[in-house]
Amino acid sequence: MPLHLHPMDPFGAEITGVAGGELTAPAAAEHCRTALDEYGVLIYRDLHIADEDLVTFTRLLGDPVMSRTREHRLGEIETITLDPSKTDAVLASYRKGNFHWHIDGATLEVPQKATLLSAQEVDTSGGDTAFADTFLAYAALPEQEKRQLEGLQVQHTFAAAQLLANPEPTDAERAAWARVPSRVHPLVWTRRNGRKSLLIGATADHIVGRAVEEGRALLTHLLDWATQPQFTYQHRWHRGDLVIWDNTGMLHRAIPFELTSRRLMHRTTLNGVEAVA
Ligand code: OGA
Ligand code: MN
Repeated sequence: MPLHLHPMDPFGAEITGVAGGELTAPAAAEHCRTALDEYGVLIYRDLHIADEDLVTFTRLLGDPVMSRTREHRLGEIETITLDPSKTDAVLASYRKGNFHWHIDGATLEVPQKATLLSAQEVDTSGGDTAFADTFLAYAALPEQEKRQLEGLQVQHTFAAAQLLANPEPTDAERAAWARVPSRVHPLVWTRRNGRKSLLIGATADHIVGRAVEEGRALLTHLLDWATQPQFTYQHRWHRGDLVIWDNTGMLHRAIPFELTSRRLMHRTTLNGVEAVA
């Protein structure tokens, strides 16, 4: 069966006609890179890609992030579970932040380019992943509102994201969060090709130079705007699915599931390529 791309509504595409082991062919990876920029989220259903092939494929797409956790024998793979008995307990706790709309690596100088999740085990009653396309959301803003966003800068902190998941932290938790460097990024991310997305989500703490509450009200308004149904897609997982998103424009979150769920994702991540401007 030939490689085939089926656009979804309102964004994203499903790719069929390719087996897990075939994604390691440069042409299949090139097809994926191009489609990712155009569609934002790519779905390869029922792929059951082998871990080695996932790593080879990731390398063909770009520069993989090396996991610091060393939980998997392959250094590029992170095992995404929230069960403290199956992973590092601190990491499991941090991952509760995944239940809130966010962009991966938003506190980095260059946020990560893309994230790949390969479903090893799925939750029986939930655990979907939802995506919001902030390219679409920005484009649909009234022109006057776009002008009001020009030049605004946002301070992103790990603590802001963690506080949503863990609203009553201990002093030690707060201190650990504060050790992650924070970052100021433009609110609107303009690409070299002219496309614009919103750099918002859980890490967005406040707007630089504005009263904190006033800035937060605007950030909340934009998050509410961007996560309306006409800008979102929610993926219901089946074992073996591979989903890839353009992390520079796709807010995402996991729909809550029990922390002890069997749900397990193998994740690889691509380092960012285009500075935020
Ligand atoms: C992530 C993430 C969402 C999910 O791994 O960065 O946000 O549904 N995962 O597991
Ligand atoms: Mn994420």
